Amino acid sequence: MKKVMLVFGTRPEAIKMCPLVNELKTRKNIETIVCVTGQHRQMLDQVLTTFNVIPDYDLSIMKQGQTLFDITTGILGGIKDVLEKVKPDVCLVHGDTSTTFVTALACFYLQIPIGHVEAGLRTYDIYSPYPEEFNRQAVGIISKFNFAPTELAKQHLLDEGKNPDSIYVTGNTVIDAMRYTVVENYSHPELDWVGDDRMIFVTAHRRENLGQPMHNMFRAIRRVLEEHPDVKAIYPIHMNPVVRKAAEEELGGCDRIHIIEPIEVFDCHNFEARCHLCLTDSGGIQEECPSYGKPVLVMRDTTERPEGVDAGTLKLVGTDEETIYEWFTKLLDDKSEYEKMAHAANPYGDGYACERIADILERNL
Ligand code: UD1
Ligand code: UDP
Repeated sequence: MKKVMLVFGTRPEAIKMCPLVNELKTRKNIETIVCVTGQHRQMLDQVLTTFNVIPDYDLSIMKQGQTLFDITTGILGGIKDVLEKVKPDVCLVHGDTSTTFVTALACFYLQIPIGHVEAGLRTYDIYSPYPEEFNRQAVGIISKFNFAPTELAKQHLLDEGKNPDSIYVTGNTVIDAMRYTVVENYSHPELDWVGDDRMIFVTAHRRENLGQPMHNMFRAIRRVLEEHPDVKAIYPIHMNPVVRKAAEEELGGCDRIHIIEPIEVFDCHNFEARCHLCLTDSGGIQEECPSYGKPVLVMRDTTERPEGVDAGTLKLVGTDEETIYEWFTKLLDDKSEYEKMAHAANPYGDGYACERIADILERNL
């Protein structure tokens, strides 16, 4: 019996790792152990409940307004004992958060092999996204198994000199999650509020966008909403107090945007599938919306998901107020521009990434 331990801590990691936890639990040669860092609390717990995953260990490190130092020292201080107690044959981490990087570092110190899920995404600018680009590159140096979602991600790892035998193209596990979430008969009071108007789905949270860039985004969104009487926006807001303050300052009192608490992933995917278009700086949403054929204006200067840009459904618009205003207006007013982006594309996998990862681990451990 081989021990596979999965460590994650934020909402998106949980959405992408819980389907893998549940797949690994069906394998009789594998003992699956889950440790959450609790880098997020409510937003993490919401996902654990949805996927019925009960962690074996919970480091509970979250603090309001935490800094990168708080997260790093909190995890390093707590995870050593768990790793030494469990002694996993492999520890799986996901993507690019501080939970991911710090767990990988702790495993390296204890010489525990790492499996990196969602390996090989790159912008090659360590300040954008910040600190995620550094985190994923750093994990790439020490990981034994690299589960790349796409051929492009694999190519990045090859270009960096990784052993080709350590790289497996599996697809992204978020597409696995989406096989169960989007349903035909779906209703929600917020969708009733939108009625026959066009629904815009908004999210924003990136650390490098906190401050002026986020104010720019919100101002542009407000201006466009106020100029289009048949458009309404739903914005499930991140719990970061800095994001909440900026949203209140720029969007408060605008009756055409509903700012609501974080929604369950089931609701989120169904909202995405029904929106007219999406404005976001999220990574995961850039992977999800293309498969519903929903145009996404990516409010960032770089993206590590160029596959969606190449497929035509993502447009990188940066964080300048006028540019976001112009593109948002164009997609609402110019049908042909909208149609150019509004087609289904799924460059991120076929929904069977978890099975592949579990097979690879069974064969190689
Ligand atoms: C983190 C990740 C980012 C990922 C994002 C997903 C890092 C450095 N950043 O950023 O890569 O895209 O998660 O959402 O790893 N908060 C709560 N409750 C929660 C979650 C957050 O109150 O359930 C508040 C807390 O005040 C917390 C703050 O949000 O201090 C920021 O959380 P943090 O994990 O530091 O950063 P994120 O922006 O969420
Ligand atoms: N999501 C969710 N509820 C919300 C907002 C987002 O379940 O209120 C989901 C979304 O479908 C995607 C993931 O959270 O799977 C993206 O998380 P986030 O944007 O926080 O992080 P990122 O992907 O940028 O790291």
